[in-house]
Amino acid sequence: MNFHVMTLFPEMILSGMKNSITGRAIDKGLIAVEAINIRDYTTNKHNKVDDYIYGGGAGLLMQAQPVYDCWNALRKKIGKKGPRTVYLTPQGRTFTQKDAHEFALEEDLILLCGHYEGIDERVLEEIVTDNVSIGDYVLTGGELAAMVVCDAVSRLVPGVLHNDVSAETESFEAGLLEYPQYSRPEEWNGKKVPPILLSGDHAKVEAWKHEQALIRTLERRPDLLEKAKLSEKDRKFIKNLLQSKNDSDIL
Ligand code: ADE
Repeated sequence: MNFHVMTLFPEMILSGMKNSITGRAIDKGLIAVEAINIRDYTTNKHNKVDDYIYGGGAGLLMQAQPVYDCWNALRKKIGKKGPRTVYLTPQGRTFTQKDAHEFALEEDLILLCGHYEGIDERVLEEIVTDNVSIGDYVLTGGELAAMVVCDAVSRLVPGVLHNDVSAETESFEAGLLEYPQYSRPEEWNGKKVPPILLSGDHAKVEAWKHEQALIRTLERRPDLLEKAKLSEKDRKFIKNLLQSKNDSDIL
């Protein structure tokens, strides 16, 4: 999996990706992260990449020329006519685990980071295949968002996580939040690990984990339950939870 990040701040991307799990994945050759400085492609004699916005408005806009020439050089290097090109913008669709899976199927993924007030619309129309936001808030630039996407996609690349099962069982994979987890010691600060987890009864432990995932999702992200894959038993369990909550509200 090759990430090609187009940015005005390449060090930000490289320093963000070189640590921990993504750093190990780079060292092992499972992923490659290239950060290309858009400024290297400007034809402006003062190395400028931005200018005033037509029609007024505060701030500066990144110009089409350096962005297009940077993308075009990258496209030729990759050897693809229309490579998947993700523009990080608060005006995009919200990035989800489903997008991460889809992007993980690509051999090359171009990520375009804007700065200032954004990028000239004309070049975006020419090169962008996906407009992606990481949430309903405005960042100073697309770099942090690009790193979020690279990180979420990287952990789905086979071999990046020590245990590939954990990529599938963690939050969102079944549409549910993850159950609470505990490590040693058995008692900390007067709090005991739930006894069922020490019972050695594998089937019971799995059933407990699933119920806890349902409880947590209902409490923290009830909106996810609408799309989650639920069995008839799950639905009954949730109905009972809601019933007992209503009962305790009344009492
Ligand atoms: N650039 C600025 N804000 C952003 C956001 N919320 N998501 C993606 N890119 C951004």
